[in-house]
Amino acid sequence: MLDQDITPLNADDLPAIDALQAAAHVPELHEPRALFAAMIDYPHSICLGIRGGQGLRGYILGYASRAERADFTTGPEDSFDPGVLYLHDLCIAIEEQGAGLGKILYDAFETRARRAGYTRLIANAIEGRLTFWENQGFTAGAQTTYHGVTATRIEKTLSPAAANNTEKKDIAI
Ligand SMILES: CC(C)(COP(=O)(O)OP(=O)(O)OC[C@H]1O[C@@H](n2cnc3c(N)ncnc32)[C@H](O)[C@@H]1OP(=O)(O)O)[C@@H](O)C(=O)NCCC(=O)NCCS
Repeated sequence: MLDQDITPLNADDLPAIDALQAAAHVPELHEPRALFAAMIDYPHSICLGIRGGQGLRGYILGYASRAERADFTTGPEDSFDPGVLYLHDLCIAIEEQGAGLGKILYDAFETRARRAGYTRLIANAIEGRLTFWENQGFTAGAQTTYHGVTATRIEKTLSPAAANNTEKKDIAI
């Protein structure tokens, strides 16, 4: 799948988002459509979909928040730290999991987060997913729950991309 198949989510995607979360997450984690709509509408959010021939194959949603916030079940709030991006969920269609789409979509999200000036990503890794997030560079913090499901608070510091001067240095004039 090509990077150009990753585009922002919009209100027309809400039924497909519902279907993906219903298939991929345990029932306790199914969230109302209004919550996804609020994240997509929020001006300080990064909400992307990965699309294929059969429509939306996965989504990732994040919004500016506060590092000290503990309960994220109600979505975006008026107060936020402009450097802190809460990664709400990454979800890939069950039949396409394990084919690299989750990593591709996460990488696109992180690239956009860096470009938007975020310096810190925070999230809750639900049970069984911590290794996936550690492989994306997150570190584990305190144990928590999300909708009653055991989770681990995780975070990643985003340093601005270092200028690559190596090639210039090697050019003899
Ligand atoms: C977790 C999820 C997003 C991963 O997406 P995916 O497309 O299946 O993962 P990828 O194929 O991109 O895998 C990337 C790497 O992570 C690994 N990986 C995937 N799922 C993993 C898991 N649950 N635990 C540990 N490693 C995992 C893969 O083996 C692969 O490793 P590699 O780079 O060494 O080959 C996907 O399985 C999913 O949507 N699950 C249901 C929703 C969910 O739990 N979301 C996360 C909430 S915290």
